[in-house]
Amino acid sequence: MDRRNKPSALAATPALPPQARVDLVGDRVTAVLPSGESVDILLTGATVLSWKGAVNGGEPAERLWLSEGAVLDGSKAVRGGIPVVFPVFGQSPADKATSKLPQHGLARTSRWEFLGKSTSESEATAGAGSSSAAASSNGVQLDFGLSAASADPALKALWPYDFALLYRVTLEPGSLATSVVVTNEGDKAFDFQVLLHTYLRVDDITKVGVDGLAGAPYSDKVEGFKQKVQAATGLVDITSETDRVYVPAQGAAQPLTVLEGGAPRYGVKRDNLSDVVVWNPWADKTKSIGDFAPKDGYKNMLCVEPGSVSSWTTLEPGEAYEGAQAITLL
Ligand code: BG6
Repeated sequence: MDRRNKPSALAATPALPPQARVDLVGDRVTAVLPSGESVDILLTGATVLSWKGAVNGGEPAERLWLSEGAVLDGSKAVRGGIPVVFPVFGQSPADKATSKLPQHGLARTSRWEFLGKSTSESEATAGAGSSSAAASSNGVQLDFGLSAASADPALKALWPYDFALLYRVTLEPGSLATSVVVTNEGDKAFDFQVLLHTYLRVDDITKVGVDGLAGAPYSDKVEGFKQKVQAATGLVDITSETDRVYVPAQGAAQPLTVLEGGAPRYGVKRDNLSDVVVWNPWADKTKSIGDFAPKDGYKNMLCVEPGSVSSWTTLEPGEAYEGAQAITLL
């Protein structure tokens, strides 16, 4: 019998789009997209160790620099990848509540909890067109948590505030985004700084330039925190030890581009992270960094670190703050 409105054949039902594969093995979370692009995260510090990303559907390649001497057993902060710096950047001033904490705070050496995964859709395709078109660009979000209750007790004792951190790592074709939400769950206000200490992989540091910082004031840590202003035009070149805290007038609204040999490689967008640290230890300083290997590895990395570090953010009880970066392959 020929029925009108008969159910459409099962075969016409759209197949589930290919999904990311996510595995938690030991103290590592790995996610692989159908494109082969991947991310690898260590529970120590929720440190992204590896991001293999592809440009325009090409072959995935490593985009982060990780020292061959990095200690990955949780006993030390990871040298490379993307450590999370909280609640203090660098050595704490003696008059702040963070004064007893080690350099860069407590988050990067604490063991975080993996809270789970969800799917993500890139802005470019979300809600646009057919479900399969959107699905083809599906990515994955991985959530990690750290709180006063779960942080390393020895470190927590040095900074007695009831904080909670939610860190989300979003992998999509051609991009990696990381965001951190800081919540004050206690009954007293606290001040904090936060920074995403991203070690970008480059082929040859002498050919690298950073666009987006022209005219920006900065503190030059190599020259005792001397206050300087970046030239009004051109790129930031890296030709010697570089350790600068840029405070661009446009704040987080200013996008950054990392170029190599004049060609754009990475686009960095920031949300609520108004400062940018640019760090490369160069040949001499590298010799004094025990876990930095190989010693000429400085030629293959540049830290471009979105942060909120030139001042302090105060969180009242119950308040939350969110800061984020999105790195796109160009
Ligand atoms: C950068 C700082 O963010 O991190 C540098 O500006 C510091 O001063 C660098 O040397 C690495 O820090 P650490 O603690 O990982 O050796």
